[in-house]
Amino acid sequence: MSLFKLPAAWRAVICCLPALVHGYPTNWAFLHCPSNSLDGLPTPTYGSDQIVFTVCVELNISAPLIDVYNTILDFQGYPSWNTFVFAVDLPSNVTTTPMDNYVSMPMTFHTAGVLPPFNTTSNEVLTVLDYANAAGYSLSAWRYDDGLGGVGMRAEHPNILVDVGGGVTRYLSFETYYVGTETAVVLPLKGNLQTAFEKQGADLKAYVEGTPS
Ligand SMILES: *[C@@H]1O[C@H](CO)[C@@H](O)[C@H](O)[C@H]1NC(C)=O
Ligand SMILES: *[C@@H]1O[C@H](CO)[C@@H](O)[C@H](O)[C@H]1NC(C)=O
Ligand SMILES: *[C@@H]1O[C@H](CO)[C@@H](O)[C@H](O)[C@H]1NC(C)=O
Repeated sequence: MSLFKLPAAWRAVICCLPALVHGYPTNWAFLHCPSNSLDGLPTPTYGSDQIVFTVCVELNISAPLIDVYNTILDFQGYPSWNTFVFAVDLPSNVTTTPMDNYVSMPMTFHTAGVLPPFNTTSNEVLTVLDYANAAGYSLSAWRYDDGLGGVGMRAEHPNILVDVGGGVTRYLSFETYYVGTETAVVLPLKGNLQTAFEKQGADLKAYVEGTPS
């Protein structure tokens, strides 16, 4: 087998994984951050196999679900509140977020805190936009795009919102990283990524609660 055929075979496997796991019976509303940091959470695109680790933040935000949902998806607004993802590059035809967002939209995140003191970037693809789910939660998600069809690193970041009553929205935000050729590079970053997720959650809560709707 030539050197070029092997990655192609891998790509074929990886391309079809989403279809295989699509019917994965996860009730997203019932997920919580794992109490053991060695446990992982499944994602909509990649499911629960070959998980390396999950970073996770869960907190209650005193604001209507729609406000939290829209703030998470207003990528143009990130510079106003998000100290982790401090800027997002969008396709040129996307002029107003969250209105112009679409599933499969490519984005470049500019991030701080992953590899301090440097800023880093990552290419991401919007995968789920599900505001009003019949089961009573909302789910948005994006996945990392390694430019190698997932051979290097698969990772996905779901945001799950549940109305817990009393004007409070439970926010569960996590990213699960899966086995790939870049695993050894990403694994040492787990602590920084966890801290960055906690910071992002705290930033979101402060911003949404401080913003009159
Ligand atoms: C969020 O609020 C709900 C309802 O009051 C409560 O059961 C839950 O423990 C809270 N979760 C967190 C992370 O504070
Ligand atoms: C922008 O382009 C993408 C891909 O070509 C398309 O799916 C999307 O609908 C476009 N959005 C707008 C607001 O024109
Ligand atoms: C990281 O980006 C922020 C915001 O653009 C900028 O203020 C800062 O100087 C950058 N840091 C480095 C090390 O480039």
